Amino acid sequence: MRIDVVTIFPEYLEPLNVSLVGKARTRGTLDVRVHDLREWTHDRHNTVDDTPYGGGPGMVMKPDVWGEALDAVAASGEGEGEGAPALVVPTPSGRPFTQELAVELAAKPWLVFAPARYEGIDRRVIDDYATRWEVHEVSIGDYVLAGGEAAVLVITEAVARLLPGVLGNAESHRDDSFAPGAMADLLEGPVYTKPPVWRERGIPEVLLSGHHGRIARWRRDEAFRRTAAHRPDLIERCDPAAFDKHDRALLAELGWEPGPDGRFGRAAGAVEE
Ligand code: ADE
Repeated sequence: MRIDVVTIFPEYLEPLNVSLVGKARTRGTLDVRVHDLREWTHDRHNTVDDTPYGGGPGMVMKPDVWGEALDAVAASGEGEGEGAPALVVPTPSGRPFTQELAVELAAKPWLVFAPARYEGIDRRVIDDYATRWEVHEVSIGDYVLAGGEAAVLVITEAVARLLPGVLGNAESHRDDSFAPGAMADLLEGPVYTKPPVWRERGIPEVLLSGHHGRIARWRRDEAFRRTAAHRPDLIERCDPAAFDKHDRALLAELGWEPGPDGRFGRAAGAVEE
């Protein structure tokens, strides 16, 4: 997969040289190219922004600079046989970034990221490229960052670990919280390693039992407990057909009950944990 990032802070993307993404680059699984947006400015001050039409605070990134930059990046891929890239624009007003979108993006041969600073990029840039390229405006959460670069790091890491051959153990994806299928839409429960006693804390007996069935059951129960406590919305969304008798009993114990449509909700009067 090829990834281009156009930014006014190329050094912000240094973490892409480290760890999993860095290794994927060294191995050649991932071809990451970071570009300085100011290369496509023509004035003495390398201006990338201007005041907003209609007034208001802050500055808006100029469409002409972004247009030249994106055209140049696209042209650099011509002859590599990849066609048009998918453009990813991180913005708090985008569609929420989820594991599902990470899987979708991981299937693309070429992503171009356009992280904005200031109040954002002139809207015409997104509208123009959307006529020729696939464009994804993506938010990594309900909070406002100073710019999109941190979001590029987040999205790139989530995508890169899904590329074939990047994670050592192909099984590692299967139990990911939010991985489609398997432990459908439950958060992962706690994990333990040696030593067996640390600061007088042992580990749950069942994990030492060697009994695979009981261990799987315990892990599922812990996943339910954690999901009910931290992400009740995920339980509410679950298709109740995915719950067995034991799941239902545990949910009842945690203060959940099925509603008229069969989906589980917090029982009236249930106490918050
Ligand atoms: N830029 C600023 N805040 C952001 C967010 N929450 N997600 C993606 N890009 C952003």
